[in-house]
Amino acid sequence: MNAEGRGRLNRLPEWAALARHREELGETHLRELFESDPERAGRYTLDVGDLRLDYSKQLVTDETLALLRDLAAAVDVAGLRDAMFRGEKINNTEGRAVLHTALRAPHDAVVEVDGENVVPAVHAVLGRMAVFADKVRSGEWRGHTGKPVRAVVNIGIGGSDLGPAMAYEALRPYSQRELTFRFVSNVDGADLHEALRDLDPETTLFVVSSKTFTTIETITNATSARAWLLAGLGGDEAAVARHFVAVSTNASEVRKFGIDPENMFEFWDWVGGRYSYDSAIGLSLMTAIGPDHFREMLAGFHLMDEHFRTAPPERNAPLLLGLLGVWYGGFHGARSHAVLPYSHYLSRFTAYLQQLDMESNGKSVDRAGRPVDWSTGPVVWGTPGTNGQHAYYQLLHQGTQLIPADLLGFARPVDELDDRTAGQHDLLMANLFAQGQALAFGKTAEEVAGEGVQDEQVPHRTFPGNRPTTTILATELSPSVLGQLVALYEHKVFVQGAVWDIDSFDQWGVELGKVLAKRVEPALTEGEAVPGLDASTAALVTRYRELRGR
Ligand code: F6P
Repeated sequence: MNAEGRGRLNRLPEWAALARHREELGETHLRELFESDPERAGRYTLDVGDLRLDYSKQLVTDETLALLRDLAAAVDVAGLRDAMFRGEKINNTEGRAVLHTALRAPHDAVVEVDGENVVPAVHAVLGRMAVFADKVRSGEWRGHTGKPVRAVVNIGIGGSDLGPAMAYEALRPYSQRELTFRFVSNVDGADLHEALRDLDPETTLFVVSSKTFTTIETITNATSARAWLLAGLGGDEAAVARHFVAVSTNASEVRKFGIDPENMFEFWDWVGGRYSYDSAIGLSLMTAIGPDHFREMLAGFHLMDEHFRTAPPERNAPLLLGLLGVWYGGFHGARSHAVLPYSHYLSRFTAYLQQLDMESNGKSVDRAGRPVDWSTGPVVWGTPGTNGQHAYYQLLHQGTQLIPADLLGFARPVDELDDRTAGQHDLLMANLFAQGQALAFGKTAEEVAGEGVQDEQVPHRTFPGNRPTTTILATELSPSVLGQLVALYEHKVFVQGAVWDIDSFDQWGVELGKVLAKRVEPALTEGEAVPGLDASTAALVTRYRELRGR
């Protein structure tokens, strides 16, 4: 259905039905829902691939779920999904196809963009990446002075950093431990400085990752890295070819930078930056974990793609998670969503999801450019449990806001943890389960008073409960499971954008800041007057120059 073809979301009868239903539900408590339905926990569970999703602690009934699915049908989420998988140009503001799913399609799949099957090119690049990764891992790839690589530094930002950096952390136990991997993104020189200070130029390889190869942070860091390399290797420009490779869609800019196109790994404009780490943007990750593990990860992505594409609405996990977000944003006033992984290895997972979700769905006009008057993407946040429990969970339990949360955990710790620390895993997971229980069921004033607590203390020690969570449980954090998880969230974000009628695949909102930074920079360095600079910013610039002694 095209942008003009559907009614405005909150004028649809299906939306009105949900609003009425929300009123009827009122403050119905999860305690009541569980008491009145002994089958609830079993029925509100989905098994997809290696993931078990328990959504029984969501503030929903069968009717809620049916009404949400009716809404999805009314706005034709399935139609847009199929158009995405077919390679139609659903990123309408940029006139591009959205085909990250083709990055993990099997060899024999056919996915066409403008009449051309893109799958052979995807596999050709994966093959080149594997050859390169194996050479680095085996020591065959030599630096300018003939030494093997010991450290790989990925330089990129946003989608060209967060994905590989997150996945490297997640899959560290699968990585070649003798090699060091670092991820530099910030234009703050401290980032590069700290990454390089204990590295040896003779044995360091840079992967410059940038879809456009024009991103100022990345090009600045890459230029500084090249200067560091040349200073360390006696200034011979020929060294660059042995120590720099590029990942980009822009061969001419890569060449201009001085990187041999032979050492460029390609991807395509139909891969959005925040959907790209399973493309060549994952080169540093593949070098860390090896081509076989990378392929296992892609298979995990593909498994979830196929589930999303084919599972009926009642059993479709990304559809369900997306619709739950629509329910809370649209009918409960929720403005944020917490993702709380009970896994140290997922320490960057929520940061990765922030770009995936907030850059995709942080929009306030619909696909036709009209202002929306419904809530779109939430603030996504969170850090690994149990650390968060000792920081912000207080607000989750007793604050005035409703914050739906996902609790992620794994049955088994990774193999390489020895017996001493493996014993800690049960304690970690006990915390996950306890938090889901406490958030859902709380502790009533009667229960608190029944423990002999003084009357004036009772309100402080009461937990209202009714705070919704989904628990996602898998056997272990393997490459395949990571792929399944990421694809689950990718498609969840897709579903929400489809319902909210926004273009989830552009990111015009990051442009203005970039343009203004370029304009302000000469004022800082040269003291040049910046036309149109507001009084507040002008005064800050003046003060900055004073402090820099300029
Ligand atoms: O933040 C805007 C953005 O365009 C992201 O979407 C993208 O992931 C990031 O910048 C980096 O872009 P590039 O890969 O072109 O350097």
